[in-house]
Parts: sequence; structure tokens; C-alpha cells
Amino acid sequence: MALRTILNKRDEALSKVCRPVEKFDEKLWILLDDMIETLKKADGAGLAAPQVGILRRAVIIDVGEGLYELINPEIIEKSGSQRDVEGCLSCPGEWGYVTRAQKVKFKAQDRNGNWYEKEVEGLFARCVQHECDHLEGKLFVSLVEEFVDVEEEKL
Ligand code: NI
Repeated sequence: MALRTILNKRDEALSKVCRPVEKFDEKLWILLDDMIETLKKADGAGLAAPQVGILRRAVIIDVGEGLYELINPEIIEKSGSQRDVEGCLSCPGEWGYVTRAQKVKFKAQDRNGNWYEKEVEGLFARCVQHECDHLEGKLFVSLVEEFVDVEEEKL
């Protein structure tokens, strides 16, 4: 495994729509393993492949409920609403309130190409929505309703 560089929001890779993952091969597994190591080092909750410069639909999430790999994820149901402070590893120092669905049901493939479905809520649901936005070239800062001072919020 190796650490990858997390791109800053100014990098144009972060505004591109990503292509589906088609090959579930060793190249994908190395990417995912590298993303896992990079996410742990950065102490984040989620990371999308475009954040390390790979324009493919692959995401990893770890919000303390185990590590999930979402390949070609699709949100198939959304319900409720939550408003909370959000940040992004590609936008260091920027934090702000974003309203998201409280619950989402998504389907995705695992690293071997097997489809699975999962229903999540709260922070996990927020993270799925945030990471799926990355795959569309969309950053959370475009959704922020009110930016906050991180020192005051103690995040
Ligand atoms: Ni992000």
C-alpha cells in the first residue's frame, strides 16, 4: 500500500464527471488499498477516487461502522433531512452547514464486482451523499448554506 496525494479543490480533476469502473482487477485493488491508507492517514470519513486523481466511480467510507467500498454507487432512495457541519479533505480549513437526506438506500459493487444494497442514516448517509457528489464533479462547498469557523465549532 502507498499513500496517494489528496488533490485540492482547485485541481480540475475534482470538477469532472467520473467514468464507471469496468475492470475489477489488481489495478483497482491497489487503488482501493492506497485510498484506505490515505484516508486513515488523513483521519477522514470518506474518500472518492477523483480526490487522488483517478476519474473512476470508486469511493471508500469509514464513519466508525467498518470500512465500506462503494464501486459504481447509486443512491436509490432518500428520505428525511439533516442539517449539520460538513468538511472535505480536498477543502482544508473550510467547514459549513449542509442540508442532506437523513436516510439513504444505495447500491454499489464490492471490489470483486458483486452488487450489494445498504440502507444507512445520519453521518453515514451524509458521507454517501458527499462522496457520490464527488463522482459527479460536485464539491460540498457549492452546497454550503453557512460557513463556520472550525475553531469555534471544535471539529
Ligand atoms: Ni470530500
